Order: sequence, then structure tokens, then C-alpha cells
Amino acid sequence: MTAEQAAPASAAQIAVHWREEEYRHPPARFIAQANAGDPRILERFGEDHFPECFKEYADLLSWDAYWHTTLDTSNAPFWRWFVGGRLNACYNCVDRHLPSSRNKAAFIWVPEPETERTEAVTYQELYRRVNEFAALLRDFCRVRVGDRVTFHLPMVPELPVSMLACARLGVVHSEVFGGFSGSACGDRIADSGSHILVTMDGYYRNGELIDHKAKADEALATARKLGMEVDKVLVWRRHPGRYASASPMVDGRDYFVDDLIKEYRGLLVEPVSMPAEAPLFLMYTSGTTARPKGCQHSTGGYLAYVAGTSKYYQDIHPEDTYWCFADIGWITGHSYIVYGPLALGTTSVLYEGVPTYPDPGRPWRIAERLGVTIFHTAPTTIRMLRKLGPDEPAKYDYHFKHMTTVGEPIEPDVWRWYYEVVGKREAVIVDTWWQTENGGFLGSTLPALQPMKPGSCGPGVLGIYPVIYDEDRNVVEAGSGRAGNICIRNPWPGIFQTIWGQPERFVQLYYEKYCRNKDSTDWHDWPYLAGDGAVQAPDGYFRILGRIDDVINVAGHRLGTKELESASLTVAEVAEAAAVPVVDELRGRVVEMYVALKPGIAASAEIEAKVAGAIETEIGKIARPRSVWIVPDMPKTRSGKIMRRVIAGISNFADVGDVSTLANPEIVDDIRHRVQGVKVSRGEVPRELSSQEVEEITAFGRAEG
Ligand code: PRX
Repeated sequence: MTAEQAAPASAAQIAVHWREEEYRHPPARFIAQANAGDPRILERFGEDHFPECFKEYADLLSWDAYWHTTLDTSNAPFWRWFVGGRLNACYNCVDRHLPSSRNKAAFIWVPEPETERTEAVTYQELYRRVNEFAALLRDFCRVRVGDRVTFHLPMVPELPVSMLACARLGVVHSEVFGGFSGSACGDRIADSGSHILVTMDGYYRNGELIDHKAKADEALATARKLGMEVDKVLVWRRHPGRYASASPMVDGRDYFVDDLIKEYRGLLVEPVSMPAEAPLFLMYTSGTTARPKGCQHSTGGYLAYVAGTSKYYQDIHPEDTYWCFADIGWITGHSYIVYGPLALGTTSVLYEGVPTYPDPGRPWRIAERLGVTIFHTAPTTIRMLRKLGPDEPAKYDYHFKHMTTVGEPIEPDVWRWYYEVVGKREAVIVDTWWQTENGGFLGSTLPALQPMKPGSCGPGVLGIYPVIYDEDRNVVEAGSGRAGNICIRNPWPGIFQTIWGQPERFVQLYYEKYCRNKDSTDWHDWPYLAGDGAVQAPDGYFRILGRIDDVINVAGHRLGTKELESASLTVAEVAEAAAVPVVDELRGRVVEMYVALKPGIAASAEIEAKVAGAIETEIGKIARPRSVWIVPDMPKTRSGKIMRRVIAGISNFADVGDVSTLANPEIVDDIRHRVQGVKVSRGEVPRELSSQEVEEITAFGRAEG
């Protein structure tokens, strides 16, 4: 048995102790108006009614042709939903609202500089802009049904316009988060096989107009190295007519959209009627290996799922002003800024910049000015707003009826501030647990019908039947106090269809572990492995503990350790690299890198900077490590595996467990003295970790096992 195997195998096997929080009940005013106020809805989505229960979600959409089979399991686990149905996602989000709501705002865009005016894009105007851009894509770029188009766009209305234009044409969009580097964008261009890149010259962040077009040139160079030639780069300008980037426009390749689009003024493009099963978009995410996974989402199932969950869990009514403070470059933004809210015909707010610019009162000023009724953000933002402006919300006259938290576990203490200070005790809160792969929520309370419990996401959502399994495939019972691997027993319409170009990996990563029979076409045999550790309380509520697959969740962004490590290995002096998570008060987790150098090379601040720089270039600023530690050697098992849990323990001042079976146990104390000595002198000693955090840290690295 190797030391790795002897180590506490996972968070899944260890009891977790925490204080159960008290329930909070939704305000009567909320209940009175809720979309899901009748408890019979829980029964309608009970297992006896699966999969037909999801007809209720699909019926929120306008179909060109109704489906004949709700769920086809014949090619398990490649589920097919609403088979035989046809629809167009853009038509559902835009055209069909025109008769009733032509001049109602679909989006209200708030630029970061307060000196710039807020821009309301009505459904009518969105319709025009989407049609014109669709015509440009079709006639100038010659894209066709099923082609992929990559976007590298910031939080501007041009992003949903571009998405909806693709959807109108049956073209698959693949938006890469604007904060990712050019090189990360290039990887995704190559992986998806896109010939077209849509980008912008610049955007505002923290008061600065950032040069974004420069990243397009890097992206194309990376894509070319990977064998993919991009034909055209479409460049929206942040201020039409005024180019803000220092990067030259390449003749015959780069085009300003605001120039070209004049040719397409007034053109209308018939929405292409797509099979429910046609892919709508790709969204890349990180996992255990260095290669990002392109999660492929469907048209009918996905749109039905985000419409249904937006209606019942976000409680969106057409007259709400809904603000999801996420970036459209992540799945949250796709589902709950664009597709869900627009399918329901509501008004969705887009904000360009950072939450605390120019001061931490900014979000509350926006909420007051626009009359926001529903607010949706991540724990990392809540922590930051609390730290920098604990008393700001009280200064503004806004009233939320509903608030969401998403993306990471939220500490009960942070939850209480959100509830009491941000929500003024007037709003219901949903803590929604889900993933890029899922299309929409998996775990949450149904806001009018199930009480809130700080720190727990709640039970499975309507039509989702979660279960926790241990490593030996036994069910971990609710209330046992034991943690395990949370799985979803059943398929649901929002589940991704496959990993783009890697169907075997799709099956292996998400289904192999708990599949009961690989030849079975019965969905009961194919539980979906979410990749999170979780515990279920006696009342059925889940508490999510964190990833089991070496993904570090930094401020709600998934970063794969392998991606961080392969970026570090691009530095010529580096022989070995290991990334570990460190608990951080604001960002949840931050990354620290450990590197060992090639023989004969001396440690230096220059090499540390090179490693940090390489990560920024390969992935983006969000991944920049807090520290790079150059060590003489990595702690290793006798079979040569780097023991990440040991260095993670050191970085977090946690117990590193038994190291006596390592190949080089003496190195542990050496590294500890160096690293902790520097951290103490810099005042970087973390607070005492909770048992939950200790388990996460000491289980780290298990996935390579
Ligand atoms: O570990 C879980 C955590 O974020 C992971 C998914 O990240 P991503 O695919 O980027 O999607 C984020 C937004 C949907 C999950 O595997 N996570 C997400 N929501 C929660 C959460 N952890 C605890 N509580 C949540 N509400």
C-alpha cells in the first residue's frame, strides 16, 4: 500500500461535525406572490412522475414541433430529452415577447464608469441587433448550422447579442470568460474548431479601460500552434467608432463590427428551427487533467431547464427587475443572466465592472436606481462587500424580494450578513448548488415552500434526486453525519450532452464510478457523479463540502491543479510543480504553487516571478498564485507521486498527517520551516481551520491516487 492510499482517502470517509443552523422562514409577502407557492408542485415532480414532470418546464417554451419522447435512454448515458421536438432558442428569448413587451427592457446595461449612462436594450431593439448580427455572421462569415464560433467578450450587451445571433442561426457559441488570457482562449478555439473569433477592443475594470483586443492576437497564435486557423476576428468597439486597443487590426482578418453591421441594417433572419437535441453552446471548465472540458449543452432540454428553474427558484415574474451579478463568461451568466430570464420575458441587469468600483456602495446604488427586485451573486462578492462596506446597504433605498448565492459554500456568518444587512430581512435567500456541466440548479430550497438553513443548499431541486455514496458504493444515509460523494440518481433536461470531442471521457469522468451495468439502458443504473463531497442532514438538506477532483475553487472560479502545474512547467528552469489551495478570508481559496528546479539552478525571486507570470499568460489573472515556493524537492511517495496533501497542510498551517512512509520524509520539516517562516513574517497565518476545511486540505491530491 502506498502512502497515498494509506492517507485519509477522502473527505468522503470522514465524519464531519458542525453545528446545525436554525431554519429561517420566507417572509409572508414573498410567499403570497411566489411562482411556486402551492406544495402540490413537490408531488408533481416526485419520482413517480419522472420524466414526464419536466413537460411542465418544456411547456414554458414555444415549440415549432412538439416532442414525441420526453426522455430517450437508449444510448445511456447520452440522454436525449424532448426527442422529436423542434424550437429556436433565440425566438424563445426574443421574438415571442415582442407582441406583449416590445418596448420593455430586456437588458439594462450599467457601464462601470458612473459618468457613462445606463443603457436599456428593449426587446424590440434586441430583436433588431440580434438579427443584424446574425445576418453578418451568416453572410459575411458564412457560418452555418452546427459551426462553432468563439467569443472572448466582456460584460457588455454585445455578448448576449452575439449569443442570441448564433442561437438564431443554429450555430454553437463558445464564450470564453473575458478575464482568461489570450492563450487560454486559443486553446478553446482550437478544441472547439472555431474559424471565427468575436471579441472587443477594450472594457472597463476598476476604472481602467483594459486593452482586450491584444489577447485576440495571442489567442490566434496559440490556436495556430494547435493546428487551427481562424479566418476572421470580429471586433466590437466599446465606444463605436473609437478604437481603444494598441493592437493593430490585421488586414483581411480583423473587422470592426460597428463598421460592417451598417451593411446589414434592417435585415431579418428567419430563426432556424432546431431539433431539441441540437447543441446550443459549449462552456469550457476545468477538471483533473490539464485539458479543459467543453461542456456541450442542448437547445430544448437546456432552455426548458433554465426557464423552469428561473421561474420557480429565482421566482422571476415578467415584471421583475432581475440582477444576476455574475459574468456571462461563466455558466451562471449563460443560464441566469441570458437564457433563463429572457425565456421568461423579464428585465435582466448587466453590470460591466467590479463590485466595489468606485466604492462598495456601488451595487446598492444600482439596485436603488433600477428598482432591482431579485439579486443573485457569489459568496466571494458578498464577503468582499461586507469587508469593505459593512454599513453601505442601509444607506440605499432598495428592496429585494429574493436573493441567491452560488458557486461556493457560504459560511453561515456571511449568510447572516447577506440576509440581515443586504436583504434587510425582507428577502428570501436560495443557496443554489450546481455546476457548469448541469445547465441549472441541482440543490436549493424552493423559496416559498422550504425554509432556509444558512450554510446548506437544501434538498435536491424539483425533479432532481440526489444521493450520497461512499467509496464502496454504499448509500450514506441522511443524518449519519458521514460525508460522501454526492451523485444525482436521474437524468434531467439541463444536463450537458457530452464533453466536446471526448465522449469517452464524458462517460468515464461522470458515470463510470457508480455505474451498475454498462450495458444497461435503464437510467437507474447510471448515477451522475458530481465531483463534490457532501453531507446530508436528517431533514434531507445537503451541505456541499467542495471538490473531490483537484479543482481549486478560487472566488467561485474552477481552476484545475493540472492546468496550473503545466503552466508552471513552461518555465524552463522548473522541473516539477504542484498547486495547492489555501484558505482565504475573501476569496474562499487562493492558489499557492510549489516548484522544484532543474539540477544546478539556484532559487531566485526572478524564477518565482516567471512562474506567476506563466500562469497569468497561460490561464489568466484570476489564477495568479498568492505565492510561489521554490523547494529543494517535493514530498513524494515511494512510487514517485507528489504528495499534495502534505504541502497543502503546510501552506495552511494544518496537520500534515503521517509522513513516515514517504520516500523523503525529511523534506517535510525543511519545507515547513521555510514556508511557514516566511508566512509568519508576512502575517499570512490563516485563522484556525474548521474541521470541514481541514478535511478538504488533507484529502487534496486524492484524485491522482
Ligand atoms: O464545488 C461546487 C461549487 O462549485 C463547483 C462548480 O463550479 P462551476 O462549474 O464553475 O459552476 C459554478 C456555478 C454553478 C461545484 O462542483 N459550488 C457551486 N455552487 C455551490 C458550490 N459549493 C457550495 N455551495 C454552492 N451553492
